[in-house]
Amino acid sequence: MLKGKNVLLGVSGSIAAYKAATICRELIKQGANVKVLMTPDSVNFITPLTLSTLSKNPVNLEYADAKTGSWNNHVELAKWADFFLLAPATQNTLAKMANGICDNLLLATYFSMENKTYFAPAMDLDMFKHPSNQQNIQKLQSNGNVLNPAESGELASGLYGEGRMAAVENILAAITLAPGKLTGKKVLITAGPTYEAIDPVRFIGNHSSGKMGYSLAEEAANRGAEVILISGPTNITPPSISEFVRVQSAQEMFEAVRSREADLFILAAAVADYTVENPASEKIKKKTDTLHIDLKPTVDILHYVGLNKQDGQFVVGFALETNNEEANAIGKLERKKCDLIVLNSLQNKGAGFGGDTNRVTIFDKDNKKTAFKLKTKKEVAQDILDTIEKKWLD
Ligand code: CTP
Repeated sequence: MLKGKNVLLGVSGSIAAYKAATICRELIKQGANVKVLMTPDSVNFITPLTLSTLSKNPVNLEYADAKTGSWNNHVELAKWADFFLLAPATQNTLAKMANGICDNLLLATYFSMENKTYFAPAMDLDMFKHPSNQQNIQKLQSNGNVLNPAESGELASGLYGEGRMAAVENILAAITLAPGKLTGKKVLITAGPTYEAIDPVRFIGNHSSGKMGYSLAEEAANRGAEVILISGPTNITPPSISEFVRVQSAQEMFEAVRSREADLFILAAAVADYTVENPASEKIKKKTDTLHIDLKPTVDILHYVGLNKQDGQFVVGFALETNNEEANAIGKLERKKCDLIVLNSLQNKGAGFGGDTNRVTIFDKDNKKTAFKLKTKKEVAQDILDTIEKKWLD
C-alpha cells in the first residue's frame, strides 16, 4: 500500500522526535519515497543528518539555504506528497495548524497540502488534556486531518498518563490500512478524445487532453478502488492503477468498456459522435476542389452502460456544453440513464479542455445541483468522487 507513495514526514520539537527515525526507516522499507520537514526546534531532539540519511533526501528545514540561496518550495513539496504525516506533533505546532499560523516551512507546506494530513500528538498529560489543546485537535479533525491518537503510558516528565505519541507500529498501521471508501470497488473510467480515421494518416479528433479522467483514476485508486482506465490518445503518463487500456476510436473504446465489469462507471472521455463511413485504405490525394466524407454515428457508450446498469452499479457521465448548459446536461442525464452528470461549461474561464483547472456543476437524478468553484483538476476529481461516495455509498 505504501509502495511508490510520496510521503512528507513532519517532525516537530518533542522528545518523541527520536521515533521519527524508526518511522522514516519503516516507510522506506515499505517502498515509500520520503522527504522530511523539520521545525526549527526539532533539531534539538534529532539531527537532520539522521533523517536525511534514512530518508535518502535532504531534510527541509528553512525556506532557503543560507549558503547556496536555494529555495525550498513549500508548494512543490505539498504537491509532490500523497500525504503528510506529522509525527511527533507538538502542542505548539498543532495550535498553529488549527489556527492558520504559518511561521515556518513545515507549516507553510501543511497549509499548501491538497492531500491528507495525519498527525500524532506528543506532549505531557496536562498539556495534552488542556481544553485549548483538545479544541485544536478537534478542529484539525473536522478540517479533514486524521488523528493518530496519543496513548497512555510513562511520559518524559516521569508522570504517567495520556499524551505519549502513538506507537510507531500503530501510526504505520493507520497509514497503511486506512481503508479508502472505494476499497473493494471496481471503477471503470474513460478519458481523452477518440480518433476516427479518415485514411491511414488523418483522423477526426478533438481537443480533450484526458487530464480530468486521469485525475479521477488516480484519486479513485488513492481511495482504494481497483481502477480500469480506458483512454483515447493522450500525452499523459498513466497513473499507477490496476489496468490501463489504450484505444483509438469510439468503437475500440466501446469494445473495451463492454468487455469489462465494474461497480462504478465514470465516462469522462470526449467520444466522437460520428465516425467515417468508409475510411480510405491509402492516403487520400489532393485531386478535387471539394472533398466529401460520409460520416455515420458511433455507439453511445454512456447510453449503453446506463441502459444495461445492474442493481448496485453507479453510472456517471460528463456533459461539455457551450449553450443551454443546464438543460442540456439534465437532458443527457435522463436520456442516458446516469446517476450523476458532471457539467463543464466552455463559457467558464479556466474550464474545459487542455488546462489544469476546471469548474464543474454536478446534477443528480433528483435534480439536485451542486456548483463548485474553479479548482485544479485534482481537486475537482476529489469533489466528484466525494459526491459519488455520498450518493452511492452513504
Ligand atoms: N459519450 C459516450 N459515447 C459517445 C458519445 C458520448 O460515452 N459516443 C459520453 C461522454 O463520455 C460523456 C457523455 O456521453 O460522458 C456526454 O457526451 P457529449 O459529447 O457531451 O454528449 P452527446 O451525447 O454526444 O451530445 P452532443 O454532442 O449532442 O452534445
